[in-house]
Amino acid sequence: MFESAPLNPPDSIFGLIEQFKKDENPLKINLSVGVYQDESGTTPVMQCVRLAEEKLLAGHGTKSYLPIDGAPAYNQAIGKLILGESLYDSPSVHSVSAQTPGGTVSLRLAGELLRRVFNVNTVWMSNPTWANHPKIYGAAGLEVKKYDYLDEQGTGLDFDRILESLRHAQPNEAVLLHTVCHNPTGVDPTIEQWKVLGEFIKERQLFPIFDFAYQGFGESLDADAFPIRNFIESGGEALVCNSFSKNFGLYAERVGGISAISPNAETAAAMLSQIKLTIRTMYSNPPLHGGAIVNTVLHDSELRKLWTSELTEIRQRILELREKFVAAMQARVPEKNFEYINRQRGMFSYSGLTPEQVERLKSEYSIYILGSGRINVAGINSENLDRLCDAIASVV
Ligand code: LMR
Repeated sequence: MFESAPLNPPDSIFGLIEQFKKDENPLKINLSVGVYQDESGTTPVMQCVRLAEEKLLAGHGTKSYLPIDGAPAYNQAIGKLILGESLYDSPSVHSVSAQTPGGTVSLRLAGELLRRVFNVNTVWMSNPTWANHPKIYGAAGLEVKKYDYLDEQGTGLDFDRILESLRHAQPNEAVLLHTVCHNPTGVDPTIEQWKVLGEFIKERQLFPIFDFAYQGFGESLDADAFPIRNFIESGGEALVCNSFSKNFGLYAERVGGISAISPNAETAAAMLSQIKLTIRTMYSNPPLHGGAIVNTVLHDSELRKLWTSELTEIRQRILELREKFVAAMQARVPEKNFEYINRQRGMFSYSGLTPEQVERLKSEYSIYILGSGRINVAGINSENLDRLCDAIASVV
């Protein structure tokens, strides 16, 4: 019966992790998947998470089902985290949220919802974008179209080209936006550009989906939410897909959320009912543990303070790594300017390495980078920096 199933090639990101694990070179370097690594090369459990788990373990918990949309306190906390207290409490803003198993499910839910409820048949996404975005929306039955994003050099933003491409978008089509720390490039629009883009999206009557996977990795928890808050403040309606994989280091717990925000209370309530209907037919209700950790941290002032400071430390360390990487590359290849890497934000840098160079780094040096040339800066440490830069210098 199953004979006709074609073999699907390995995932472009997770497939590389498998190859990395099998590589026996003790000097191998993993800069592939977007996972934070500390100086020792491990992905730590944040202290605030450990303390929250201790608290949860000591409490008299239950493993009974959560509501379809997850725990109310969790949902309220993510609404406030995305919008900030004052916008969340504003009488002209109505935000509903549901806990989802990670950002991926949230993105898929947004696609299902837009197609089923609003007959949306097309979603526009940046070129390049996270390799899973087109697959998620293709699976949700939407046609994927791309808007240009980068300049000629491929290392900075070309805002005019974004608008130029999006002029081809029709009303009732969706547009997917990376709220901060664009994956895979690390290149974000400025505040002024976000304002223009927000107005453009409203004028053209496009459905915005804000993918918010890196809150806290750009500048701060609040500053990173600017694109969403600005859009909502100026009367827009939006879907927000957020993830706690990165900013809580809760990758394997699969915890995130989908929020629908509208100036109208009845609209928001109807959106929540549609979100719940979609969830019920996909996975019924969310898993408990990850959401309980986030909920505990966000509702405990001490743990929340600890979380914010741990996140700040992570962000600053990545910035330092960028500087060290740029200096080390500049010393080896003085004729090329690497400054653009310092201007990019978040975990990723679009290095400009070609697929052939990336392949050589893997086969000759056991250095694992995505075929697109995306480097996970958070995988660099003082131990592997020189080896990495020597290898890159030898292939460019
Ligand atoms: C990445 O882009 O590497 C991460 O978001 C992990 C993933 O699921 O691909």
